[in-house]
Amino acid sequence: MDEPVLRVRGITKRFPGVLANDHIDLELRRGEVLAMLGENGAGKSTLMNIIYGLYTQDEGEIYINGRQVEIRNPEDAIRCGIGMVHQHFMLVPVLTVAENLMLGMEHVRGYFFLDKERTIREIEALSKQYGLEVDPRATVEDLPVGAQQRAEIIKVLYRGAEILILDEPTAVLTPQEADDLFMVVRSLTEQGKSIIFITHKLREVMEIADRIVVLRGGKLVGTTTPAETSRAELANMMVGREVLLQVEKEPAAPGEMVLAVRDLRVLDDREHPAVNGVTLEVRAGEVLGVAGVQGNGQRELVEALTGLRKVTGGQVQLLGHDTTHAAPRQVIEIGTAHVPEDRHKHGLVLAYPVEDDLVLCTYYLPPFTRSFNLQPYAIETNAVNLVDAFDIRTPTVATPASSLSGGNQQKVIVAREFSRNVKLLIAAQPTRGIDVGSIEFIHKNIIAQRDAGVAVLLVSAELDEIMALSDRIAVIYKGEIIDTVPAETATREQLGLLMAGVHEAEAGD
Ligand SMILES: Nc1ncnc2c1ncn2[C@@H]1O[C@H](COP(=O)(O)OP(=O)(O)OP(=O)(O)O)[C@@H](O)[C@H]1O
Ligand SMILES: [Mg+2]
Repeated sequence: MDEPVLRVRGITKRFPGVLANDHIDLELRRGEVLAMLGENGAGKSTLMNIIYGLYTQDEGEIYINGRQVEIRNPEDAIRCGIGMVHQHFMLVPVLTVAENLMLGMEHVRGYFFLDKERTIREIEALSKQYGLEVDPRATVEDLPVGAQQRAEIIKVLYRGAEILILDEPTAVLTPQEADDLFMVVRSLTEQGKSIIFITHKLREVMEIADRIVVLRGGKLVGTTTPAETSRAELANMMVGREVLLQVEKEPAAPGEMVLAVRDLRVLDDREHPAVNGVTLEVRAGEVLGVAGVQGNGQRELVEALTGLRKVTGGQVQLLGHDTTHAAPRQVIEIGTAHVPEDRHKHGLVLAYPVEDDLVLCTYYLPPFTRSFNLQPYAIETNAVNLVDAFDIRTPTVATPASSLSGGNQQKVIVAREFSRNVKLLIAAQPTRGIDVGSIEFIHKNIIAQRDAGVAVLLVSAELDEIMALSDRIAVIYKGEIIDTVPAETATREQLGLLMAGVHEAEAGD
């Protein structure tokens, strides 16, 4: 059984103005985790989409267990035993897990009517076999992200996948959820499944991979193993230069009060209390990090502060203005930049050209509008400058944001929000899905803004990011700030305990 389960040869794919995959050769062995790394726009998702039949290659062949196959659509891929969990989840939110699994199965299994109870039993069996905890009767939109992802994995297994493609599966997970996923991945490979695992997190690659491949500019530029390499070397292979994995910064010099939040109360989408009396302050020239396990109110907190969600109690003061019930545009005009957590919902209009997304909150102001007329030249010039400064990989500034790679979409938002002259920066998961080279750049930028006197509220599920950038760290748990600690002395363990709702004094005994 030396034949690789999957082999691709000479895969090439062109998009208008981009050579996304350039003669890629790759093999996946049975029972291994093959980690795939590469900077934003390197061609990782494109290659996976070809293997899964969503795109057709311009050149090259695909072999399954040594036999050449033609994969024209996902049904072909599923028949070949290939399953994919996408960078952006694809379950139907209003259906239950079981209903989602039954969708489309009529074709694959050849009968029209599927028995729901039987599907539920099959889900339970898979769930047990691989340690994937999912309630088949739960409605998808009610599930936390980690559980939605487990449902996606179950769906793929339910369709008989032997090869699983996971495209940035940990980008949206908390550290705890990521650890759970790793256990699942190990149990899958132990039982003979083969996995391609795309990620930007080098720590994970070193932990989970059997082999590692690196893409750059559409080409496969290296193959290695965790034992033979280091995080620094991987970073270098990805971006083709040295990357500082640590952030360099001086102590903060906090100035005037910029954001003062008193006893804030906010409800979630289902009208349940999400923020239960949060009090915090951010001064000019400091970074306040908000650490917490996802789903503890940080999303609702940020939405309330930026005018996107109604406040039900308490008060928000922004530079002396009462913005408790302000509209988003007012909050922006007083001087707030916001990198939202959900880039598709609040960050971008995907159908717009990149240049328009780059002026989404300033298009009506000079120099972009003069005497009620849009100024196309000013909008284009702004875009050309930002694309260059923030290294956004796009064929032109008129390309729709939807055809950019995930990480480059995120860079469009970051470029827009970081380039405005503001007093407060609210950044929620600012580097989600971003490659190490660009993370270095964004982190430097956040510190530069702090040093220029901007107040920064950083909400992140990445403990490394929180610890690297913050001056003070507030830990949120069940909608309350349970402690605020100086970043200098904070440890991963201390923060981890607080995030689980345990105070150190209690943990001691
Ligand atoms: N549907 C499309 N239309 C046009 N261009 C596309 C399309 N999909 C991808 N591209 C281009 O192909 C290149 C590779 O994109 P791809 O999504 O494969 O990158 P990636 O390695 O997955 O990056 P990321 O880490 O940001 O997800 C990019 O330059 C992107 O703009
Ligand atoms: Mg991608």
